[in-house]
Amino acid sequence: MQDITGRSALTALGHDIRHVAIIMDGNGRWARRRGLPRTLGHREGVKALRRTVRAAIELAIPYLTIYAFSSENWSRPKAEVDDLMGLIKRFIRRDLAELHGNGVRLRVIGDRSGVSQDLLALMDDATALTRNNTCLDLVVAFNYGARAEITRAAQALAERVAAGTLTPDAITPELLAGELNTAGMPDPDLLIRTSGEIRLSNFLLWQLAYTEFVFLDVLWPDFDRAQLEQAIGIYQARERRYGGTGSDVPGDALANAPVTTAADASPAGSVRPVRGQETA
Ligand code: FPP
Repeated sequence: MQDITGRSALTALGHDIRHVAIIMDGNGRWARRRGLPRTLGHREGVKALRRTVRAAIELAIPYLTIYAFSSENWSRPKAEVDDLMGLIKRFIRRDLAELHGNGVRLRVIGDRSGVSQDLLALMDDATALTRNNTCLDLVVAFNYGARAEITRAAQALAERVAAGTLTPDAITPELLAGELNTAGMPDPDLLIRTSGEIRLSNFLLWQLAYTEFVFLDVLWPDFDRAQLEQAIGIYQARERRYGGTGSDVPGDALANAPVTTAADASPAGSVRPVRGQETA
């Protein structure tokens, strides 16, 4: 099997995942449990991100999208927002050479308005430098909100209608998807959210329509390759039917659907039971 870039999607682990999206949650709680300031939790979160990027390369996952800063995160205390901005700048400055050397293509999705010029310039330079890399697309969702993204796409189509170059009945899901920040990328196969929270928080609402969700109790700073493999294992136990009944489950598909439990996931039970979420 090949993805839209032509890269093979078959891997040593035997998975066919082209795109993993991650909501990196729990930095603050990780720090609080240790009596540390939240900013130290975010610093450990960057280390977890480095581990995860390396693991994604090793596991031959072509696309990794991370929720680095949501459009709602501006409402956090200014000191924390400033700290997160500094961390992202340092991440690009310090890690860009290694990312580039490892064949990572850096992409940024989200709203550019309100973002400082120096950070925009750093992001633009990094995306330009790495644009021809083909090992892993690391997609950083920054100042990102899905409703705003879908709204911008609708506005772009509305402008074409107003200009007379598009008729309303010619608008299709594919046309709208082509106006999203993720145009040209495959939709995520697997969404992981850490820290035990079970919500999407305005992340990739369009693109996650048929994605498999895995919610892990681990806090983001403790995330590593083992956790990623665990999530992939849960994904592999699921049957994706895209609203159909599945190829080998005629009749009562639900009765035959695999059920993921904490026991399946790990002896430590670090994954919540998610019965029912594996069915479309
Ligand atoms: C959620 O944890 C995490 C964030 C809002 C930011 C994620 C950022 C990083 C992992 C580091 C910086 C990113 C890059 C790309 C270098 P939280 O603070 O909401 O944790 P809590 O829910 O326990 O309070």
